Amino acid sequence: MTTILKLGGSVLTEKDRPETVDESNLRRAATAVARAATVAEPAPEENDLVVVHGGGSFGHHHAAEHGVTTTDGTRDPGAVRAIHDAMKRLNGAVVAALADAGCPALPVHPLSAAHRHGEGELTLPVAVVQSMLGEGFVPVLHGDVVVHEDLGATILSGDEIVVALGSALDADRVGVCSAVPGVLDDGDVVARVESLGDVEAVLGGSAATDVTGGMAAKVRELLALNAPAYIFDLEGLPAFLDGEEPGTRIG
Ligand code: IPE
Repeated sequence: MTTILKLGGSVLTEKDRPETVDESNLRRAATAVARAATVAEPAPEENDLVVVHGGGSFGHHHAAEHGVTTTDGTRDPGAVRAIHDAMKRLNGAVVAALADAGCPALPVHPLSAAHRHGEGELTLPVAVVQSMLGEGFVPVLHGDVVVHEDLGATILSGDEIVVALGSALDADRVGVCSAVPGVLDDGDVVARVESLGDVEAVLGGSAATDVTGGMAAKVRELLALNAPAYIFDLEGLPAFLDGEEPGTRIG
């Protein structure tokens, strides 16, 4: 059983205060993940878990300062290092919290091992992640800045990593822990979204042309996965890790 879990930057950090970890949320998330990674049933060796986290007030702040997005690149090595170093600081805090909670977490930094090339193709350190899982570790990747052929370096979001790794590892379940309890329709959590049509009906507008990110883009990407994906908040995290279906099921 392979599970990929994204911990949103808005869950782990205080979005309005630069480089501020939300310590209590991080501890809650780390406790739930550590429990899932070490429970007896299924045995830890049959229970592969990959964690990916976003940028929150660490990555986005520096990316905006240097005008770097998923499509606007930079060739300024200082800008690349500033964004990457901030993400490494957050990753260090996440790995440390997981370790404190008893989870065998190891950091994986995309800048050093991933890149975009050709027609927007993304290469991730899949073999390294698989080897770590094979040895019983929990790899912890993060949104980052990565080298992008012909553009210098661009932002690689945690959501993109989740979708690409979900396919590459043939994941059984994908979870996205966000600041909201699921896809919302007039404040109510929608139980299931199965198609782009459903997304448009619920979120309005054309999901197919939403390039600004946000929930519609997230749902669209998750729909492309073979595995079921769930969007939930911190409240729903233990249930997701127990194999239940909190929040909104995508696909
Ligand atoms: C962003 O990752 C990474 C950087 C800005 C370097 P995400 O886009 O996945 O982050 P969140 O979860 O939305 O904060």
